[in-house]
Amino acid sequence: MFDTRLEVTHLNAWYGQAQALFDVSLSVGAGELLVLQGLNGAGKSSLLQALIGIGPRVAGHIVWDGQRIDSWAAHRRAQAGLGFVAEDRRLFTGLSVRENLWIAARGPSKVAMARQFDRVLALFPVLGRLMDRPASQMSGGEQQMLAIARTLMSSPRMLLLDEPCEGIAPVLVQALREVLLQLRGEGLSLLVAEQNDILAAHADRVLVLTSGRLAPAA
Ligand SMILES: Nc1ncnc2c1ncn2[C@@H]1O[C@H](COP(=O)(O)OP(=O)(O)OP(=O)(O)O)[C@@H](O)[C@H]1O
Ligand SMILES: [Mg+2]
Repeated sequence: MFDTRLEVTHLNAWYGQAQALFDVSLSVGAGELLVLQGLNGAGKSSLLQALIGIGPRVAGHIVWDGQRIDSWAAHRRAQAGLGFVAEDRRLFTGLSVRENLWIAARGPSKVAMARQFDRVLALFPVLGRLMDRPASQMSGGEQQMLAIARTLMSSPRMLLLDEPCEGIAPVLVQALREVLLQLRGEGLSLLVAEQNDILAAHADRVLVLTSGRLAPAA
């Protein structure tokens, strides 16, 4: 049904001697929303980080757009189109919304980047009203939107989001969900870790991690 973009097979991951992921296999297609659930400590963040190359030591195959990327450094995976938003968002809190967005801009030309800037603001109109505000003076939900918007400035073809709706006011959760579903409709692939059922209800597939092992949702 979906053209496969990301294919993970027999992925194992370790922090030192402690194994965090066991024989994880999954695929995500173009325009597919895959939700990853699991209890605290199940390995959700470890899996997302392993895929983008910042997490634990891994063994296994990670294939993106037909190329094996598991030995690639994180920046190369990002350049290849994998966008990641960490649970703690990692914004430049002293910089304004505008600065946070422009600092992340990647594109073939200034015109292309300006076009992407306009596109991202159209997705998140709330950011347009906060352009000159330092990120430190935004609500948790606004910061989450900025974190996603910033990642979108590099025009990724897949977004990996770690608990994007956690600790956000309901009205912003709803807005965020609408944006993510719109992006999916435009062909972006989404892999979202969450503990609640906010995006799971709209997912193409839900997978559950239990103590580092993957199982389809019951
Ligand atoms: N940097 C690290 N060093 C050592 N062990 C880690 C590290 N990060 C995570 N772990 C361990 O790996 C396992 C999986 O943790 P992970 O953070 O991936 O789970 P999670 O599903 O994201 O949990 P949460 O819902 O609390 O975010 C846990 O046993 C955790 O203690
Ligand atoms: Mg986590």
